[in-house]
Amino acid sequence: MEKKFTIQSVADRDSVDDLFVISNADIREGKRGQYITCTISDATGEMACKIWGVNGQNERVQIAYDAICDGMVYRIDGQASVYNGELQMSINDGIDHIAHGPVDHFLLEPGDFVFSPANCTKNREDILRMAAGIGRQGLRDIVERVFATYDSFFFVPAARGKHHAYRGGLAEHTLEVVRYTESILTGTEGITADRDVAVAGALMHDVGKAVCFAEQGFSYSQLPIYFLRGHISPGISIVEQAAQDVGVGGQDLSHLLHIVQTHHGEHGDPKPQTVEAWTVHMADNTSALLHEVASDIEDTVPGEGRFGPKVKGPVFRYPEPSRMQNGTSSLPDTEKNGSQMRLGV
Ligand SMILES: [Fe+2]
Ligand SMILES: [Fe+2]
Repeated sequence: MEKKFTIQSVADRDSVDDLFVISNADIREGKRGQYITCTISDATGEMACKIWGVNGQNERVQIAYDAICDGMVYRIDGQASVYNGELQMSINDGIDHIAHGPVDHFLLEPGDFVFSPANCTKNREDILRMAAGIGRQGLRDIVERVFATYDSFFFVPAARGKHHAYRGGLAEHTLEVVRYTESILTGTEGITADRDVAVAGALMHDVGKAVCFAEQGFSYSQLPIYFLRGHISPGISIVEQAAQDVGVGGQDLSHLLHIVQTHHGEHGDPKPQTVEAWTVHMADNTSALLHEVASDIEDTVPGEGRFGPKVKGPVFRYPEPSRMQNGTSSLPDTEKNGSQMRLGV
């Protein structure tokens, strides 16, 4: 079957019949009976999808759900529509194509289906260069030992639906966190901070995620360790083991573990207690939040606001600055007139 639609080409009210990867499938109970929520994707992006089936025939929904294997490619025969400002796919009659199971992925071209805006090769080189740039040998040895042991770090996603949720997302997010950490420390006057331990902490803060995902089909599935232990506790184990392997202990190891343990900031336990730990927490938040806002804004048109499902609050897209003429305001008419901006909630 030749691919005619890509995620990027699908528009509101399109009737779509094409091949896409299914991931994050979950079965739910709705007013009309059971339905499936999932994400469909190809190399150009991803989209939310609901599989309703026909007139609450729950057994057909269950059969389809049982036939879904995360990361595999299915024939998606449905209707695209905008819901809460976001384009999504709805499948009714096409449910039987899902129930027939996945297309043999060895017959497919991975380049058509693997979604990853990240440049894995370059990100890996940049991260290894940052690790090599850590001045104190003990910290550098720990970080380099971890990267030599966990190659998966450079390919797994950073999450399953929030920020950097694509192949290579963890490395890309980590790279940003190191850059923000360095910028915060450089930009802050009158505060003494240990750059080496902050950079090592930024590089290691999410390292536990390297063991939380497994490649499956054209995507990554979440392993039980992720929902049973989260990613901080496996990260602590990884750093401790690497430190033991290279024979490093003492204050540097203690501070590095404190940064990994507390990088969720106010929401963690314990909370950060050093300048370096707070810096990594803020850098982590900045990287995650900016990607979530950008992703929520992606489908809006200039001058449009809506409820952002990732930031769980309103987001707004201003027109491009190039559309301003001779200093005239580029504010949308809605705001100039004092009326409410259009929100999809
Ligand atoms: Fe984290
Ligand atoms: Fe993070």
